Amino acid sequence: MDNRPIGFFDSGLGGLTCIPYLMKALPDEKIIYFGDTARTPYGSKATTTIRSFSMEIADFLIRSDVKMIVIACNTVSATCLEDLRCRFPKTPILGIIEPAAKAVAKACGEENHIGIIGTKVTIASKAYELGIRRYNDRLNIYETPCPAFVPLIEEGIIENDIMDLTIRYYMDDFVYGNHLDTVILGCTHYPLIQKNIERIYPGLDIINPSSIIVDNIEQILAERGMLAAGSQAGNVFYASDLSENFINMIDHIFAGEDEDAKVRFLNFDLENGER
Ligand code: DGL
Repeated sequence: MDNRPIGFFDSGLGGLTCIPYLMKALPDEKIIYFGDTARTPYGSKATTTIRSFSMEIADFLIRSDVKMIVIACNTVSATCLEDLRCRFPKTPILGIIEPAAKAVAKACGEENHIGIIGTKVTIASKAYELGIRRYNDRLNIYETPCPAFVPLIEEGIIENDIMDLTIRYYMDDFVYGNHLDTVILGCTHYPLIQKNIERIYPGLDIINPSSIIVDNIEQILAERGMLAAGSQAGNVFYASDLSENFINMIDHIFAGEDEDAKVRFLNFDLENGER
């Protein structure tokens, strides 16, 4: 048994899409979440920049005594997973891509046409395609970046015509041109526009890695005897820029379920460290 919190992080509010699944599957676990809202988006930045931001955040989570780090960000998982594991070898660190790639490889066959949407960095890394092909080399896989989705979602521009037009701009040719039947949401922000995508492309199967990762969290903690026991009050959500949208999203996710959850501002300064 280990009642220390699980640390989650993302470039912004996207990683919050994992939290309701975790709370449902493992209600005893306590959460510390860090969203780097001041420096989002990561998905069009240089790998060296993403790595140094991620190291800072992981350092902060380790100092907060987390028992496990979940990289609730595809961009960081695609580029920095091994670096983070090398730097913090004593703490289990789980990326979001591996479990989803494995699940897709199991669930799909040669008859499927699978599309992956994500940030520029995630798509350029080919992390999903390589991850899926490790388990099943015969699948039809197509990928395209959708870089404007994250800034719009961080601004709360979700259920309206601007978002729908942006989805069509990036996805119409991609979906119809490749005869896709399955799409993987390869960015943790994208579940927040899943309903829009379903409405615009009603025949598509949508795969959401934010729900898949929870089984792996449970498996790793169970194998190591590190599951929490007894309800742990006081989840904490940090943001490097406490935007109205971040707070609204947390209110929306918890909707009265965790009265003790705290939302805090935590600034990082690359030159001087945490302030
Ligand atoms: N949620 C991050 C991901 O899964 C967003 C990336 C970004 O900040 O551009 O890739």
